[in-house]
Amino acid sequence: MKKQTIQKVKSINGGIELPGDKSVSHRYGMLAALAEGTSELRHFAAAADCHSTLACMKALGAEVKVDKDTVRVTGHGTHGLRASKKVLDAGNSGTTMRLLTGILAGQEFASKLTGDESLQKRPMKRVVGPLREMGAEIRARDDNFAPLEIRGGKLRAISYAMPMASAQVKSAVLLAGLFADGETSVIEPAKTRDHTELALEEFGANIERHGLTVKIHGLNNGGGGSLKAKTLDVPGDLSSAVFFIAAASLFPESSVLIHNVGLNPTRTAILDVFLSMGASIQMQQLKSAQGEVSGDLAVRGATLKGGVIEGKTIPLVIDELPMLAALGPYTEEGIEIRDAAELRVKESDRIAALAENLRRMGAKVQERPDGLQVAGRGAGKLHGAEIETYGDHRIAMAFAVAGLAAEGKTIIRDADCAAVSFPSFYDELNRLAER
Ligand code: S3P
Repeated sequence: MKKQTIQKVKSINGGIELPGDKSVSHRYGMLAALAEGTSELRHFAAAADCHSTLACMKALGAEVKVDKDTVRVTGHGTHGLRASKKVLDAGNSGTTMRLLTGILAGQEFASKLTGDESLQKRPMKRVVGPLREMGAEIRARDDNFAPLEIRGGKLRAISYAMPMASAQVKSAVLLAGLFADGETSVIEPAKTRDHTELALEEFGANIERHGLTVKIHGLNNGGGGSLKAKTLDVPGDLSSAVFFIAAASLFPESSVLIHNVGLNPTRTAILDVFLSMGASIQMQQLKSAQGEVSGDLAVRGATLKGGVIEGKTIPLVIDELPMLAALGPYTEEGIEIRDAAELRVKESDRIAALAENLRRMGAKVQERPDGLQVAGRGAGKLHGAEIETYGDHRIAMAFAVAGLAAEGKTIIRDADCAAVSFPSFYDELNRLAER
């Protein structure tokens, strides 16, 4: 339960390389464990969440060797997983729990899957529902929460029109679809990140995509029978880069070069939001590998206008909303977030956590059921305060950045929770801060 003290800085300057993308690392770790042979996953995420995924795959019979950020996973094929002797622990990671539930639904053995206090409060019905439709037997506390007991087996292919825009739900159904007896399709109400589709293709699954529909052929039904081990490079995490984009933008003299960031088009809506608010961001050295685009981002200080974020943009920037909201008081017009009730069931109730902590720092905030409105610069300057993170990594990092331009000290309680996605966050922020 360590605290971090954040002081005002003059600017943010220098070069930075970020840990590997969390979403991509989860998928590569899971699929490598289902493939035949040893996969080498380079620049794998340092995030505690992705190491929860690796620990689960190891407990299910894959061999996992971690050497700094290179992870070697040896899988024994799509039928090579074995029942875990212990309860599988997804830690704080919703992605681990939801995606793994999809895989476990297709296994001929029973599994029990749990997580930390926060994860045990997050809704799982959204994946349990469609996986039951496919034939899996799943028990959940109050029919919605972990611990989950999953009795997998033969699955039937379904066509699933998702009631919500969630990459995790889409992924759980597609991963179960690998083990189903035909062609499983998922229809999204709005676009979400497509790393699962790209990773499945990369490991050799048979995937088709048309607009908002994704189809997967069951491995034994036109899907090619097996997945092949791969050597893959994980790009840097754009969602982590956003804290440095925000920090640099706050000070006119900042200049930051962020190297090798994942720029998959289903993730870059956040850059469009920043650019529309007047941020100075240039993409450089773009390249593409394994379907994933990456490049460098050159960021300079700017005067941010602020604006409204809503509708179909929300699922594309869902993880970046805490940072955007916390920038609100430094923008000309403030920031308004609508249509984002989903934020209430993330690692914390992020709408409530944002409203409370912004007010502690002196901001003017209106909290709504599906978002919040944060007044801009005209409503007064922010001052340092004690920040209650609720154990949520993105709340901790968002307020560490907000604290860089506030008067006086900002104290982040339980600051270590940043390690869930970005263990070296405070060291890197300190290194780039000019006082
Ligand atoms: C993720 C999807 C998003 C996101 C989460 C990671 C993923 O969740 O918030 O941090 O890797 O698929 P939802 O798809 O549930 O919105």
